[in-house]
Amino acid sequence: MDWKLMQTTAREKFKGACRVCPVCNGVVCSGEVPGMGGLGSGASFRNNIAALAAFKLNLRTVHSVSQPDLRCSVFGHELALPVLGAAIGGLAFNMNGAMSEADYAQTVVSGCAQAGTVCMTGDGPSPVTFESGLAAIRQAGGKGIPIIKPRDPERIVELARQAEAAGAIAFGIDIDAAALVNMTNAGQPVGPKSKQDLAYIKRHTSIPFIVKGIMTVDEAEACRDAGVDAIVVSNHGGRALDHTPGTAEVLPYIAEAVAEAPMQVWVDSGIRSGADVLKLLALGANAVLIGRPLAQGAVGGGVDGVATILDKLRNELTTAMILTGTARVSEVSADIIW
Ligand SMILES: Cc1cc2nc3c(=O)[nH]c(=O)nc-3n(C[C@H](O)[C@H](O)[C@H](O)COP(=O)(O)O)c2cc1C
Repeated sequence: MDWKLMQTTAREKFKGACRVCPVCNGVVCSGEVPGMGGLGSGASFRNNIAALAAFKLNLRTVHSVSQPDLRCSVFGHELALPVLGAAIGGLAFNMNGAMSEADYAQTVVSGCAQAGTVCMTGDGPSPVTFESGLAAIRQAGGKGIPIIKPRDPERIVELARQAEAAGAIAFGIDIDAAALVNMTNAGQPVGPKSKQDLAYIKRHTSIPFIVKGIMTVDEAEACRDAGVDAIVVSNHGGRALDHTPGTAEVLPYIAEAVAEAPMQVWVDSGIRSGADVLKLLALGANAVLIGRPLAQGAVGGGVDGVATILDKLRNELTTAMILTGTARVSEVSADIIW
């Protein structure tokens, strides 16, 4: 679909909640939470962008890689590209109601499924958020991953079982939402989880368990020890805590520390191009997630808009792989980083 039309439409429908800037870098929307921005000073959002920009790629063209393999395996499912959709909820207060919760979930889940990948769905104070995600995942034949707020472990297990019944390929918790006041104010307490809590959740569920919102080596190791199947190195797109480093800065240390574990390491926050994706794979990620760009695509162009965003990333990643001599997403060399 036409890029300019998609952006203009998105800008109109967001009614100021997102300005759909030429570069989505968290500058204009600093402090806009609720909204689409980064929390507080906006430093964590901007640090994500700056951290990625600080890594440079080695241009290499004396080789025979001309048709790189973008496929990626996630819990035994093959994805066409190593890019998943990130969970986004709270359309009414974050996006000025640009879409309904149900329409949004349906659009991003089916858009990602059509592009050969999967989308995560959100959770929030209103049950509509989680239920909309589950309904969309059910409709897509299970191609989706519901992310549950860090509620009481027993409640997480209950919701995870609903995810299992909907056929979801995995479920997760966004553990970095541990201090979300709108959940607590709505009488649905959230909080940090101990290693024992994580092990309890793993023991009482049967589909793969993802912990999203890990930013330090010791917590990645705790997740590994608790039997977690994948972590997402994430600062919630700069929306959890002000003044955190960018995810690209912490990823290499985390990936190295848990490299021998069967646990997958995913990453999100501030990823805007195929070159960004390739950098993060070179820094140790098995896959990445994108949030705001997908929201702009969904609001501006529905399922086609989501496909347009993923197509752009796929094309850019293909080009970047050719120009760094990277044959396969499953084997990206750290040496492509300058
Ligand atoms: C408006 C908005 C709502 C979000 N809601 C959720 C949510 O319900 N659950 C969750 O795990 N993450 C949520 N996130 C965080 C995203 O899943 C993801 O970590 C983040 O958007 C990645 O950064 P990016 O937008 O810069 O790509 C939300 C992000 C935004 C911008």
